[in-house]
Amino acid sequence: MPLVTSTEMFKKAYEGGYAIGAFNVNNMEIIQGITEAAKEVNAPLILQVSAGARKYAKPVYLTKLVEAAILDTGLPICLHLDHGEDFEICKSCIDGGFTSVMIDGSKYPFKENIRITKEVVDYAHSKGVVVEGELGRLAGVEDNISVSAEDALYTDPDEVEEFVKETGVDSLAIAIGTSHGAYKFKGEARLRFDILEEISKRLPGFPIVLHGASSVMPDLVEKINKYGGNMPGAKGVPEDMLRKAASMAVCKINIDSDLRLAMTAGIREQFALNPSEFDPRKYLGPARSMIKDLVKHKLVNVLGCAGKA
Ligand code: G3H
Ligand code: 13P
Ligand code: ZN
Repeated sequence: MPLVTSTEMFKKAYEGGYAIGAFNVNNMEIIQGITEAAKEVNAPLILQVSAGARKYAKPVYLTKLVEAAILDTGLPICLHLDHGEDFEICKSCIDGGFTSVMIDGSKYPFKENIRITKEVVDYAHSKGVVVEGELGRLAGVEDNISVSAEDALYTDPDEVEEFVKETGVDSLAIAIGTSHGAYKFKGEARLRFDILEEISKRLPGFPIVLHGASSVMPDLVEKINKYGGNMPGAKGVPEDMLRKAASMAVCKINIDSDLRLAMTAGIREQFALNPSEFDPRKYLGPARSMIKDLVKHKLVNVLGCAGKA
């Protein structure tokens, strides 16, 4: 089976009240851990690659590793560019075989966001590739924005219809209170489900994307800290909130930080238990297993997409 777009996945997810997991990939062990988990529970997958991942691994390695994962598992897999910042990187991914790209124009004024997003959509659609746009900015990531101005970051429901209509995007990432990384909430976790609800009323049947959706799994943070790490105060999105979002219009849930925690916890544990170990397979193998366990849990218990491949 060749790479697929997310069109069919989102249609079924919307109707079925579940979400597709979009997991960030950087190397072979991460790709294997994710895809082996999905194979075991028969889940469709979006594997996403950031600009940083492309730089780290070189685009051809990631593309070929994902192709290998398809040969290995036979699963429907969509290969997606995460946070494309301009037309050039989107074009490069489209030309390189990606089936989906994100053009992240969220830092631009509304009309400029529409302009650059539409430019990518026109090119992508001419090649059969789908596009994710973004409106609103994820909380806590822009250093120059104060906490008291945080409300201004949420997606404005009044803008979504014009944005989708003018750009022709296939899915829309929104900001309802999540943020990237391992330190998402200082106090109680709070997501603006009222905004999500309002957006889905304005865009009936349209797939919404949730970024910054790692739960910052407490057991992984605990293990990292137990074996010499230092991550006090790390806190993510509670899984019941993700489950709720998945039952609403959210069809794609982005997870990267939890994968990083699983890999780091696995490697730290091996080094702590076997300080003289120097065979990479002996610590990367267990780390890969931790990723597999984590992803299986997400697919089955949180996203609800097990059995949907
Ligand atoms: O949203 C960002 C993802 O976690 C990717 O992070 O740019 O460090 O690869 P990265
Ligand atoms: P996390 O940092 O919460 O894993 O978010 C990842 C993400 O949104 C990738 O685009
Ligand atoms: Zn993101």
